[in-house]
Amino acid sequence: MLNEKTIEIIKSTVPVLEVHGTAITTHFYKTLFTNHPELLNIFNHANQREGKQQTALANAVYAAALHIDKLGAIIPVVKQIAQKHRALGVLPEHYPIVGETLLKSIKEVLGDAATDEIIGAWGEAYGVIADAFIGIEKDMYQEAKEQAGGWEGFRNFVVTKKVAESDCITSFYLEPEDGKAIASFLPGQYLTVRVHPEGEEYSHIRHYSLSDAAGKSYYRISVKREDHGVVSNYLHKDVQTGSILEISAPAGDFVLDKNETPVVLISGGVGITPMISMLNTIVKEQPQREVVFIHGALNSSVHGLKGELQDLAEKHANIRSYVAYSEPTQQDLEDKAYDKEGFMDLEWLQSIIPSKDADFYFCGPTAFMKMLNSHLKELEVPAENIHFEFFGPASSLE
Ligand code: HEM
Repeated sequence: MLNEKTIEIIKSTVPVLEVHGTAITTHFYKTLFTNHPELLNIFNHANQREGKQQTALANAVYAAALHIDKLGAIIPVVKQIAQKHRALGVLPEHYPIVGETLLKSIKEVLGDAATDEIIGAWGEAYGVIADAFIGIEKDMYQEAKEQAGGWEGFRNFVVTKKVAESDCITSFYLEPEDGKAIASFLPGQYLTVRVHPEGEEYSHIRHYSLSDAAGKSYYRISVKREDHGVVSNYLHKDVQTGSILEISAPAGDFVLDKNETPVVLISGGVGITPMISMLNTIVKEQPQREVVFIHGALNSSVHGLKGELQDLAEKHANIRSYVAYSEPTQQDLEDKAYDKEGFMDLEWLQSIIPSKDADFYFCGPTAFMKMLNSHLKELEVPAENIHFEFFGPASSLE
């Protein structure tokens, strides 16, 4: 445990971190990848370019520093990050590399202000934080391996089917190359895919939500092709039926509860993928549970999994489904293919949600989630009934 003096130093340097946090971690990543280019096989280069990862790590270190004398208080956050670390293959031996580079970066950015005493205190604190992560991740690796059909690290899966779900979303059906069982998962969890496209210097890893219910002989992910997405373009263009993909076991803590309360599943764009998994699971396991499924898209041409959603809503009386198109096509207008033109506004949401005491799950682009979160607050939905997931590094909706 850290002594009082160390804790005091850590806490007194939090305001300095607040100002320099991002500068330190930006410097940190530059140094890390110069000295350990092999780590570029794990980190998401796009998140690096956009600065998202720098902010995520800065915030995590800052939060840990604030709670250094009661790390137990941030265990849920540590677990969420550890889920991603486990899925990516982060190992105990990586922690000292990150620790040393971080300390050097603090020293270099803060200059003389970072006295030996401060650096010493941070070294100790990092050790405590790293041990918390390593311990939790060890249990997660163990669980992933010991679960029926589970495995450690990455396992080869064959693409057994590739289905275009819209102009930009394609589903991939994946079965293990070894023909053995696959681990179950909870609706809302994601798979982690590692690819090495020809001509790329490093491997690329991405997380994709599972888009079907568990209990099948395959996993399904539904991937949106992003304009400059290295992995999504590779999957859409180069990966065909019969191709092999490296996959790590399902992970993630954005999962559907098993209450019998009414549930509202709201998605924007490709955020529909974890919601369809939740919907398919409810149909299978809680056929009486009231569900309101609300989806927003530009129009029908990019509305992925539309047919599957319509089919589920038609066949199951417990499901009500609503669609909002912000820019309906001429055909959508003629077909009356949507329930709302434009974005989901407060009035419309109020008219279709069953009760503010329902459980609300949502996923979509950040701006969409911010808007939704503020609508739900205005509708006085209790915070504990609101559950959401970001694409990419976790962030804040405030
Ligand atoms: C992701 C914190 C150590 C590799 C993250 C995220 C946070 C974080 C907050 C973002 C989570 C999200 O996406 O929601 C930390 C902290 C660490 C630590 C506080 C030390 C105590 C490590 C180590 C490695 C590592 C040792 C391995 C070299 C990664 C990678 C990602 C990640 C590859 C995914 C980010 C991306 O590629 O965009 N970490 N981490 N982390 N971490 Fe760590």
